[in-house]
Amino acid sequence: MEKPDDPLTIPDETIRARSIEKYRKRAGGYDATCEPTRPIRERTIAALQLQAGQRVLDVGCGTGLSLPLLRAGVGENGRVYGIDQSPDMLAIARRRVAEQRWSNVELIETAAQHLHLPEPVDALLFHYTHDVLRSPLALSRLLTCARPQARIAIAGIKFFSGWLTPLNFWVYLKNHGYNGAPGELREPWDRVAPLLEEWHMSPTQFGMGYIGVGRVAGKTA
Ligand SMILES: C[S@@+](CC[C@H](N)C(=O)[O-])C[C@H]1O[C@@H](n2cnc3c(N)ncnc32)[C@H](O)[C@@H]1O
Repeated sequence: MEKPDDPLTIPDETIRARSIEKYRKRAGGYDATCEPTRPIRERTIAALQLQAGQRVLDVGCGTGLSLPLLRAGVGENGRVYGIDQSPDMLAIARRRVAEQRWSNVELIETAAQHLHLPEPVDALLFHYTHDVLRSPLALSRLLTCARPQARIAIAGIKFFSGWLTPLNFWVYLKNHGYNGAPGELREPWDRVAPLLEEWHMSPTQFGMGYIGVGRVAGKTA
């Protein structure tokens, strides 16, 4: 039977259209919902171990809440790319960048599936980007935009295991508001982890979240 929301059976374009519609309504109130996950954002970005002068890609950057930390990590001589397919989310990110007059932050309105960057990046952040992680097409395109051994850090929501399993319908509903393909929450990293080296996953939020870290495969020159 066809799974109701898996990019392996539903076209990416359908999932993307659902997501864009959700963020059309959600963008205005989005930042206010993110305060509780601020420590997760900080931990995930710290896991990228950014260095001055590096290039970093914020996948599904949304309203740009990660941009200040990413920019601080790479410094004035580094570069931050933020990509998102939602014009409504990106409009808020653009305002943030303009207000701060950040000249080394470049925002691109694009689907991850169609991304092209002018240079390979040294690190990629996936902060609550479940739809992107479920799309093999998006993952393959994104990894092509990274240099070998680039660091990847991922944070997101997942199902509880053990005695908290009865809460998983609530977890599904919570994820539903933010994604075009809200299911597949048992191991949301299971399509990206096999493509990476040194993959390590730690549960967060009593098991309802995770932070995963790895490196893009391949040898550096
Ligand atoms: C939950 S928000 C996270 C935003 C941001 N990363 C943050 O931590 O605040 C998910 C974002 O992923 C974007 N997104 C979903 N699917 C995408 C795709 N296929 N390509 C690019 N962006 C996508 C959405 O538009 C949305 O802005």
